[in-house]
Amino acid sequence: MAVSQAWRFAERTRAGAGDGIAAILGLLGNTDLISFAGGFPDPRTFPADRVAALIGEMDASAFQYAPTQGLAGTRDAIAGRLERRPDDAELLVTSGGIEGLELVSKSFLDRGDVVVTEAPTYLGAIMAFRAFEADVVAVPLDADGLDVDALAALLDGGLRPKLLYTIPDHQNPAGVTLAADRRAGLVELARRYGFLLVEDVAYRELGFDGTAPPSLWSLAPDVVVQLGTTSKTFFPGVRLGWAVGPAEVVAQLVSAKQNTDQCAGALGQRLFEEYVRRGWIDEQLAASRALYGRKCELLLDALAASMPAGVEWTTPRGGFFSWVTVPVDAAELAQRAVAEGVAVVPGALFYPDGRGTNELRLSFSMVDETLIAPGIATLASVL
Ligand SMILES: Cc1ncc(COP(=O)(O)O)c(C=O)c1O
Repeated sequence: MAVSQAWRFAERTRAGAGDGIAAILGLLGNTDLISFAGGFPDPRTFPADRVAALIGEMDASAFQYAPTQGLAGTRDAIAGRLERRPDDAELLVTSGGIEGLELVSKSFLDRGDVVVTEAPTYLGAIMAFRAFEADVVAVPLDADGLDVDALAALLDGGLRPKLLYTIPDHQNPAGVTLAADRRAGLVELARRYGFLLVEDVAYRELGFDGTAPPSLWSLAPDVVVQLGTTSKTFFPGVRLGWAVGPAEVVAQLVSAKQNTDQCAGALGQRLFEEYVRRGWIDEQLAASRALYGRKCELLLDALAASMPAGVEWTTPRGGFFSWVTVPVDAAELAQRAVAEGVAVVPGALFYPDGRGTNELRLSFSMVDETLIAPGIATLASVL
């Protein structure tokens, strides 16, 4: 007979990191739903034929262990896509954006350290920081991104973060972009108060018009570590990304990676390198920007057509998300919407502190174009 065990899990597992992402991934399996829930790329962007052909051409390096910092060719391909070519010691290949967050957290955070994020922010980041027992403080954002004046006031009042995590371009979940003048103000604050800026550029290359303001890393390579991912631009089935920042910081991340996964998978690294060298990534990006731009327009049109007075939403210029404010409890709305066949994510998941109860995230990246208007009409009727 099975005896139930009282497993003695580590104390840090009680920090309330939660299982929010698993819940969102779980919804994906339900094909009956019109889902505005997961931040998944549209499978129509996946380069199956090209990848199949490339695998046939691969030499042994693609199947072997790789150096912890990444294969030289892959690093060269990534470096060539950044605004400025970093020194060798400034760049690390990661197993995706989430691993970048894990490595930064592991390298910097002791119990009780303060991490500032945007309010709302990426759930995976809250989970990563909490897993290392950090105190996550979320500062509001508006249509121009993080409210840098509000941050300055908190710093002036004595807040002393070790890290500030931001998603400046087409933010997850709010769909907003940090204005250029705020970027200058933010790096100034990082220098003045001595914290590291962790810049997550997951959606940076997915501006609908192909443009983006200067990255924080390009403005201040002395105080910024930029975390990138190929998940939204290539495909997430290879877990691949990068960290670029001050050489001493990158050296510490390399050290942390040695006992995380030792190296990012060589097969994914070689595939991405070849995909870049042949110019295919730029072709895929152009098609993805057009596809997501079209879907976003359909979503905004549907919201304008269906939503009652008192509902507000952000107008993304790229990325996957719009953020909606509703005059009712969003968790209850989400529950009722699922019963009617529509999935959305209630906003409180994206705050570390219980805010966001009348907000929700709509993702337009994966939903079928023909289902956007009916899905939003159903959501409006439930509302
Ligand atoms: C802001 C942000 N950062 C990182 C990630 C995760 O990236 P990856 O798939 O490379 O781990 C996501 C994915 O949803 C994201 O939205």
